[in-house]
Amino acid sequence: MEVSGRTHVCAVIGDPIEHTLSPTMHNAAFEHLKLNMVFLAFRVTPDQLEHAVKGVRALGIRGLNVTMPHKNSVTMFLDEADASVRFLHAANTILNQDGRLRGFNTDGVGAVKALKGNGIEISGKKVLLLGAGGAAKAIAFTLAREVDELCILNRDAPKARELVSILEPWGKKIVADELTANQIREQLQNSDLLINATSVGMAPNTHESLVNPHWLKPGLSVMDIVYNPVETKLIRDAKAADCKTVNGVEMLLYQGAGSFEIWMGCKAPVDVMRAALLEKLSGTGGAV
Ligand code: ATR
Repeated sequence: MEVSGRTHVCAVIGDPIEHTLSPTMHNAAFEHLKLNMVFLAFRVTPDQLEHAVKGVRALGIRGLNVTMPHKNSVTMFLDEADASVRFLHAANTILNQDGRLRGFNTDGVGAVKALKGNGIEISGKKVLLLGAGGAAKAIAFTLAREVDELCILNRDAPKARELVSILEPWGKKIVADELTANQIREQLQNSDLLINATSVGMAPNTHESLVNPHWLKPGLSVMDIVYNPVETKLIRDAKAADCKTVNGVEMLLYQGAGSFEIWMGCKAPVDVMRAALLEKLSGTGGAV
């Protein structure tokens, strides 16, 4: 694609940003759909965030992805925030609609789409979620509407309990406890789906998993949000135990597809975006 005076821009902002995979997937999508668009990455330090957001309006940048450490603080500078942003106090996507900046959070929806896109139904199921950080919170917010039971385990148990207390309006059976080996073993006995939303297993600690392989059984589905490596120890163990699995690239992909659809108003070419991500990840590591 030739960059010209008619080319529109989308971008990701974060700090650090060098290893982002967002340009890889979005530029592949733009190219595939022959859109006159380009996706860039900008390192924005926290003290420059407000200026950067003003720059989005000034330069007519169509859309932004927002990553660490700005997901929370960027919400202060938005004109509008959707329900997920208001609940999570965090946005990963901004749409510039004629100078009006609208914030969205596609992390939770991305996780659920990754599950459904890989043939895993969540409606009426019992889910064990490991972690209570930003990603886990977004996933829990989306899952709570559809699943029957949700158990959230976190090393810092009060953080998990606080998450449960704000999910209470959904009226489902949602519980929290400290993340211990015993708790995981016990909860897995009657869970349909296990989601690792902690960073355990991420490179360079690729030999680590919170779950003893003996606790994994056929009939259990397993999703890991860690995508570097693409196959974590948890995913390898789950495959060996004949569980259905969804790796972290799928969540990365579907949260990106969600952003793409908000900016462009058309369906994201997920197969093209997945291929671009996997090709990039087979070479080097990266982060959103
Ligand atoms: P993200 O935005 O990716 O969710 P985060 O908000 O820093 O990142 O959350 C990281 C999650 O991984 C947290 O749930 C964290 O547990 P704590 O809240 O107790 O810190 C979890 N985590 C990280 N390292 C862990 C470990 N070695 N064992 C268990 N949980 C771990």
